[in-house]
Amino acid sequence: MSVESTEDLLVEGLQHIYYTEQRLLDALEELESTSTQEELQQGFSEHREETQEHVERLEQVFEQLGQEPEAAEDPVVEGMIEAHEEFVDKDPSDAALNRFNIAAGQKSEHYEIASYGNLAPLADQAGYDEAADLLEQNMREEQDALDELSELGENFDYGELEA
Ligand SMILES: [Fe+2]
Ligand SMILES: [Fe+2]
Repeated sequence: MSVESTEDLLVEGLQHIYYTEQRLLDALEELESTSTQEELQQGFSEHREETQEHVERLEQVFEQLGQEPEAAEDPVVEGMIEAHEEFVDKDPSDAALNRFNIAAGQKSEHYEIASYGNLAPLADQAGYDEAADLLEQNMREEQDALDELSELGENFDYGELEA
């Protein structure tokens, strides 16, 4: 498909974020299972449930565009998942992995916020108001998830890490 119009750009972006959200379902499970701090585990678990809703909202967006939902492999999310696997392979301490997982979660939220922050105005520009609202809803939940992770990062007990 050649990308020329606002709508083409929107569809292209939607296919990548649709892929990303589905991969994040796996990634959030991995972040939860490799964290030992309870608040962190709970945060990842709750955001995983929201992520399921993000996938469903995206399916509604495709429907409003008269398109079948289609996922396009996204190298950014794959890279983030690979970076996490590489870190786990280094056999970090529990505390080090908790701290790493906070940062990994934040990175994915920033990526999603940047994606939705561009897709919502594209949908708006292409005349799909309801789709734009759905994309903004996803974006707000990403922002809330980021804020929660940032708070956990700020309150992290560095005493658990070796000096
Ligand atoms: Fe999401
Ligand atoms: Fe997210």
